[in-house]
Amino acid sequence: MSRTRVLTGITTTGTPHLGNYVGAIRPAIAASADPNVDAFFFLADYHALIKCDEPARIQSSRMQIAATWLAAGLDPERVHFYRQSDIPEIPELTWLLTCVTGKGMMNRAHAYKAATDANEAAGEDADAGVTMGLYSYPVLMAADILMFNAHKVPVGRDQVQHIEMARDIGARFNHLFGQGRSFFTLPEAVIEESVATLPGLDGRKMSKSYDNTIPLFEGGAKALKEAVARVVTDSRLPGEPKDPEGNALALIFDAFAHADEAAAYRADLRAGLGWGEAKQRLVARIEHDVAPMRERYQAYMADPQRLEDILQAGAARARAIAAPLLAELREAVGLRRFANVATRAAGVKVEREALPQVKQYREADGQFYFKLLSAEGQLLLQSEGYPSPKEAGQALLRLRQCSGSELVEALAGRVSEAERERIAVAFGQLQAAEAERKARASAG
Ligand code: TRP
Repeated sequence: MSRTRVLTGITTTGTPHLGNYVGAIRPAIAASADPNVDAFFFLADYHALIKCDEPARIQSSRMQIAATWLAAGLDPERVHFYRQSDIPEIPELTWLLTCVTGKGMMNRAHAYKAATDANEAAGEDADAGVTMGLYSYPVLMAADILMFNAHKVPVGRDQVQHIEMARDIGARFNHLFGQGRSFFTLPEAVIEESVATLPGLDGRKMSKSYDNTIPLFEGGAKALKEAVARVVTDSRLPGEPKDPEGNALALIFDAFAHADEAAAYRADLRAGLGWGEAKQRLVARIEHDVAPMRERYQAYMADPQRLEDILQAGAARARAIAAPLLAELREAVGLRRFANVATRAAGVKVEREALPQVKQYREADGQFYFKLLSAEGQLLLQSEGYPSPKEAGQALLRLRQCSGSELVEALAGRVSEAERERIAVAFGQLQAAEAERKARASAG
């Protein structure tokens, strides 16, 4: 079975806090360990530019977030982990999508509406301070998702409208240019209901916008301890029974502890555990999980080149999927090479760019095979034997008709990830060449 593609973007503003870890990072990494999941996690740093015009903050947040995810156990060999800004295909796709996106739909985007409503309430021009980046935010996000044909997109409730817009935009593009075929998978939003939202220092949801967060790694154990000391409690003294229901310390404890430990903590609060001691026990419990990760985090932060290498490798793997699809899309909208059209018109034999090759043949064992060779003649894929040329041909056709992303799935488990992506690129080149040939034939 082909694996489910799960994709999510992490906007690189701010420094990760405990709430991010419990609510997003930890569940996403756990989900990515499922062998049926092909995960794409990326740093949405183009999106970050919309909200922040301080280069130093953009840079440090990207680094902190990359280091955090890796330190928290994300395996960059198994998960596609990359920076959005390292994939030039994404802004290019954004433009292709922008050209089929209704302005009216963008007018109804919640984030944009909130900005214009606030302006109107303040008696300002509706669009005061609204950039095209903010306005077009959903199109860039649609490109993030559609570029990799994601099936599922885990997001917060506030992002559901954006996924619906991505579906709408993808369907529109498929309809206009697909000629019966779907370039894009229409994604589904996945809202994690079961995942805990942590309370912050003041008992409200832990959020950077409330300034009530407990840092995850930055500032070390000291910062963690100081933040927990500031969690608001009531004035009950040690020895007085305390109600753990809805208590911030107990809720944060729950997010880290096993059920029996959590029950013991609550029982001790009811039995009169003092807030000071309760805080110490909470810090110790968090540290139990966080300390080893923090060490890895610090090692990554001290070695930016290592982070860079990991992200560059991630980008190369992601581009191996994105580039062939984008080549097909350019072809589909009519951004094709002139050379072949002109030379064909002039009756000149075109000097072809070297292409990968597919060969079908029979072996001494009497079976029929096919293989795929790179443009340089290197063997990329060797089929199994088939009893008849027809069956071999059909198997080949099935592979060739896959879109770039379906192909990667079709080959999952048979060849290594790196090989799979080279194969995807080669088939993508063949598909693009075929599309170009057809387009020339119909033009001529
Ligand atoms: N807009 C998302 C957020 O603020 C981040 C994001 C950008 C994203 N591109 C995405 C999420 C693509 C999912 C898929 O949380």
